[in-house]
Amino acid sequence: MSTVDSQQRVLSGMRPTGRLHLGHLHGVLKNWVKLQHEYECLFFVADWHALTTHYTDPMVIEENVLDMVIDWLAVGVNPGSATIFIQSRVPEHAELHLLLGMMTPLGWLERVPTYKDQQEKLKEKDLETYGFLGYPLLQAADILIYRAGLVPVGADQVAHVELTREVARRFNHLYGREPGFEDLAEAAVNKMGKKAARLFNQLRIAYQEKGDQEALNKAQALLKEQQNISIGDRERLYGYLEGSGKMILAEPQSLLTPSPKMPGLDGQKMSKSYDNVITLREPLDQVTKKISTMPTDPARVRRSDPGNPEKCPVWQLHQTYSDESVKAWVCEGCTSASIGCLDCKKPVIDAVIAELEPIQEEVAKYERDPDLVKSIVVEGCEKARDRARETLHEVRAAMGLSYW
Ligand code: TRP
Ligand code: SF4
Repeated sequence: MSTVDSQQRVLSGMRPTGRLHLGHLHGVLKNWVKLQHEYECLFFVADWHALTTHYTDPMVIEENVLDMVIDWLAVGVNPGSATIFIQSRVPEHAELHLLLGMMTPLGWLERVPTYKDQQEKLKEKDLETYGFLGYPLLQAADILIYRAGLVPVGADQVAHVELTREVARRFNHLYGREPGFEDLAEAAVNKMGKKAARLFNQLRIAYQEKGDQEALNKAQALLKEQQNISIGDRERLYGYLEGSGKMILAEPQSLLTPSPKMPGLDGQKMSKSYDNVITLREPLDQVTKKISTMPTDPARVRRSDPGNPEKCPVWQLHQTYSDESVKAWVCEGCTSASIGCLDCKKPVIDAVIAELEPIQEEVAKYERDPDLVKSIVVEGCEKARDRARETLHEVRAAMGLSYW
């Protein structure tokens, strides 16, 4: 697939460091499920990334990898539409990471904001490691190896996608112009056949001499249609068309995941590190218990004290789970003390249970059939590897590593 097509390719990864919870569901996963209908999607378990921070307790990762895939499937990530795989089963990522490491200035990695931030935040872990410094470069390799155009990430990851763009640009600048580029490009033009070749040359001149954008679009469309030129030639011609060298790595864009309006049980962001989560596999009686014991507006000490929903984390859950009429009932009942907090929590409890019940049934189904899950992953890994090999083949050639 060419660079231009791959701009429609979506890639994202998730670290298998714990159980998925409602925050993941309403943030990342629903977004993935939507994207899989709109784009070619690749979703993977970032187990190597998990090791950069969990290298002293790798069993945590092992325990979570397949469970995480099962959770994805259970919420509707569909292996028929999206390719699901495990990072470490596509070792091509590691080779690209290594090769990118040759040309990535150390300062670029040291300046990525998450580097120092995470070291500060995870003080209990020793993150003065080579692997942790390389975290965003490994992520760049994940993205660039598929020439993904769109990368759904949370706000904290945008800097990593930005680094990826810079690395791609530097790579193309250093290695894009292969020896004999002009001759190879002209030979590639001729492989398209007389008619297409003549048209391509006209369009290329119109674009390069007059900046005719329409001509550029037409020429790109023409390249896209060509059936008898190799991937390498096609990439060469995209570069030739725009007057640059061969574009080997594509610069991705981040696709900011809308941050979930899903508070944790204490009103802070739902997160494992705050111990305020409802997991996707939470036993349903626990759901009832956890929500029933959630703190509410501290002003409502007694049932007869009126409250203010704006000061209550339960109200934030209503934002996700309740319709307008329930919300009106909450506001009225809370401020006039005509309903109790348990009454108010009831519709939220019911809605969370209604959401989790079918997911848990799906989880149980996949758990009964681990071979099915494994075959989905194996197939996804194979598909991903095929794509990854194509890019790596060109990267090796560009870096002078294709001896035979
Ligand atoms: N670093 C990402 C996170 O912590 C996970 C990740 C690894 C990723 N590789 C990626 C996300 C490539 C998008 C693309 O959330
Ligand atoms: Fe919160 Fe509802 Fe109690 Fe008001 S009635 S304090 S919104 S739980």
